Amino acid sequence: VHIDWDLVTAEKAGFDHFMLKEIYEQPKAYRETMLGRIAEDGQSVNLSKEIEMSDDYVKSISKIHIVACGTAYHAGLVGKTVIESLARIPVETDVASEYRYRSPIITPDTLVIVVSQSGETADTLAAMREAQRNGARVLAVTNVVGSSVAREANDVLVTWAGPEIAVASTKAYSSQLIAFYLLGLHLARVRGTQTTEQMTEIIHALTALPEQVESILEQAAVLKQVAESMSHHQSLFFIGRGVDYAVAQEGSLKLKEISYIHSEAYAAGELKHGTLALIEDGIPVIALISQEDLYEKTLSNIKEVKARGAHVLAVTNQGFEAEVAKSVDEVFSIPKTLPVLTPALSVVPLQLISYYASLALGHDVDKPRNLAKSVTVE
Ligand code: G6P
Repeated sequence: VHIDWDLVTAEKAGFDHFMLKEIYEQPKAYRETMLGRIAEDGQSVNLSKEIEMSDDYVKSISKIHIVACGTAYHAGLVGKTVIESLARIPVETDVASEYRYRSPIITPDTLVIVVSQSGETADTLAAMREAQRNGARVLAVTNVVGSSVAREANDVLVTWAGPEIAVASTKAYSSQLIAFYLLGLHLARVRGTQTTEQMTEIIHALTALPEQVESILEQAAVLKQVAESMSHHQSLFFIGRGVDYAVAQEGSLKLKEISYIHSEAYAAGELKHGTLALIEDGIPVIALISQEDLYEKTLSNIKEVKARGAHVLAVTNQGFEAEVAKSVDEVFSIPKTLPVLTPALSVVPLQLISYYASLALGHDVDKPRNLAKSVTVE
């Protein structure tokens, strides 16, 4: 008997690609990232064992800069909303390669958060060193414990996603979101910006996410079909508002990275200021519509593209689906959670669509052309 076996096949643990394996590891990555960080009574998050910043320092923070590249930057876009809404601290998110050159206003009460899966990205490291030279305290959110970013930062919050092999980031991104939720709750506790009742509700919803991701993964076959029909198109759009727009940007990047299909992510309300000109008959539009307060407005943006012939797939919440279905061609619904937590769910169908589109086109899913897992040049 001849058994074809090699190390790489073994490491893929039965999955065809690392990317697919890593997408399926997300429930575990969420659980591990939360482990030991939530109080047993489920009422608060305390990161003081890991991060050294004192409560006095936390209270003195006047603004936060989040700096990162690529997918980590997209996690930072969600991070801005998370921290601003939970801890009421103003946040700006920057691409690391741009940050240094806009002479950012860094004061001693500026906290700089760098986000990096590998902890070795040259642009991120350079931005972080510049911030430290200017007197900022730096907190690193990274997936690699002994990385350069982790060694040089003042504080480190590790995402316990486990090794990520596929060039296109999936579980590292979504674990970065979990890290932002935990950090937001930690800052909120110290600064007293959320009641115990509110924090308990958020924590309850947070701990339900892993199981909710599992239920999304069970519907992969539907997304495979969607991806296969999209793969015949040359270009498509992702639209959304608020955190849905942030997730749209990540979905668009993922698709470009591995399927090489051109796509653009647009703030749904901004379409009519120019981009609507590109919507023509049959063009696929993936519309994220999960935010209750933005629901009516986003729906009317969906109707604008629909009226111009777009083929719309809506990613929405259970509860909205029946209403949304009336205005779109296809609906994929994610389980109900709190508005601020939806990115940790809505990104999953977008990852699967990218994966299956790349697969349908016969590309090297795990090693897309021209890209590297970790970029150590500026
Ligand atoms: C490279 C990878 C991206 C990644 C980015 C930042 O460009 O291809 O997937 O998002 O670097 O990487 P980091 O390790 O800093 O998160």
